Amino acid sequence: MYQQIETIVKEAGRIILGAHHIERSVEEKTSACDLVTAYDTAVQEYLRKALLTAYPQFGFYGEENDCCETEGKCGWFIVDPIDGTANFIRKLHHSCVSIGLLVEGKMEYGAVYNPYFDELFTAQRGKGAFLNGERIHVTDVAMNESMLLFGSAIYYRETIPATLRFVEELFPQTLDFRRGGSAALDLCYVAAGRADVYFECCIRPWDYAAGSLIAQEAGAIVTALDGSPLRFADRCSVAAGNPKNYAQLIELSKKIAAEPDMKGRIL
Ligand code: IPD
Ligand code: CA
Repeated sequence: MYQQIETIVKEAGRIILGAHHIERSVEEKTSACDLVTAYDTAVQEYLRKALLTAYPQFGFYGEENDCCETEGKCGWFIVDPIDGTANFIRKLHHSCVSIGLLVEGKMEYGAVYNPYFDELFTAQRGKGAFLNGERIHVTDVAMNESMLLFGSAIYYRETIPATLRFVEELFPQTLDFRRGGSAALDLCYVAAGRADVYFECCIRPWDYAAGSLIAQEAGAIVTALDGSPLRFADRCSVAAGNPKNYAQLIELSKKIAAEPDMKGRIL
């Protein structure tokens, strides 16, 4: 049933690979560090038309232009046309197309495609996670052997102190940290065992919808940073780890959230 999504997400990837003079099409969204390009909009428009033609029973919720067509539908695609827009602009080749399908409040299907490496991560609820058709699994290392990935949207200034507290506390307790710039790929990298933990204090659903299911289906525990289920309607924090390191992340998160100047800084 979801086979067509794989074709559609790869076609969207071809638009990204064909991008040229990206710098000429950059615009500011909410601030000088919240950027969008003509390609973000073009990829989203392609995805909206292609997905709604192939699956007219579902709605569409995409990052660009406040695109929300979900009324009267029991399920909708949650789409980030380019996750890792700053990477895309700087030609860092670490960006992806992310398509999640939410049905009756639960993630049903996810596809994350990095066109630069031709890597397609997919998962259907209850059926495992895959990279280019091969089954993937999380690692089983403890926190002291874990490679951590994290994000922090630079435009959500209020979350910066909490993010830095996590890094300060965890840095000496882990193997190392990386900051990739694409939450969807961060979650897929945890799924594939390329990293062991991912966290972010405040992020929008299109960045984690597909990746959260892919990570879960690969054996990760994925929740908000207070341990509650992820919310897909608006902003939320995200915590993802394997069964050996997840509890330590949540414990630390609760400790940081209780600090007087951290109130309301972790969603
Ligand atoms: C961003 C990336 C980044 C994360 C931010 C997101 P965008 O998405 O996923 O890693 O830290 O919170 O907003 O803007 O590149 O689509
Ligand atoms: Ca984006």
